[in-house]
Amino acid sequence: MDLRATLRPGARVLDAGAGTGALSREILELEPEAKVTMADISTGMLEQAAEIPAERINADVAELPFDDGSFDVVVSAWVIETVEDPMRATSELLRVLDPQGHLFLTFTALPGGWLSRAGSGLLREIVEDRFAGRALPEEHVPWHDCGRSHRRRFAAGLTEEIALRKCCKIPPSLASVDG
Ligand SMILES: C[S@@+](CC[C@H](N)C(=O)[O-])C[C@H]1O[C@@H](n2cnc3c(N)ncnc32)[C@H](O)[C@@H]1O
Repeated sequence: MDLRATLRPGARVLDAGAGTGALSREILELEPEAKVTMADISTGMLEQAAEIPAERINADVAELPFDDGSFDVVVSAWVIETVEDPMRATSELLRVLDPQGHLFLTFTALPGGWLSRAGSGLLREIVEDRFAGRALPEEHVPWHDCGRSHRRRFAAGLTEEIALRKCCKIPPSLASVDG
């Protein structure tokens, strides 16, 4: 399922880890009547997105101040690979998703297989060492095929897009990625 196909006038959209709002802006260009909520742990980031016509909330993706099923669409780009427990964060994003809703995650992943890992070594070095970023190893990728979910890999497996539905069974927590 494509993000743009899920957007409707009045759709309740959560941009989790919205940062300065690149994705929120794009969503509002696609559907100006969407009701966008931007959540981020950094107030500094949200302040830089002051001109976006969205609600702004200072919150941790692992503990969101919203009721179950509050959003029709939840998006989170380049965030889950930075948090301590991506499974817990994803479970929380699914909790606030409406039963008919769609959750879209984009993140940097560690490609599987030694050949793929070797081939993407330079890119990983850039992500992890130079930008202090992180690539999620497969065991921490919050994926479950419930028949309505989708997974796509790009850039030699370094980038992933996952579309999850409420039916997905994601473990509520795992040991931290670093642990
Ligand atoms: C790489 S930026 C991505 C921003 C935005 N999603 C985008 O695509 O431009 C990661 C964002 O996640 C936020 N973040 C990191 N950990 C978070 C957490 N536990 N809860 C909420 N936001 C978090 C950071 O403050 C930062 O704004």
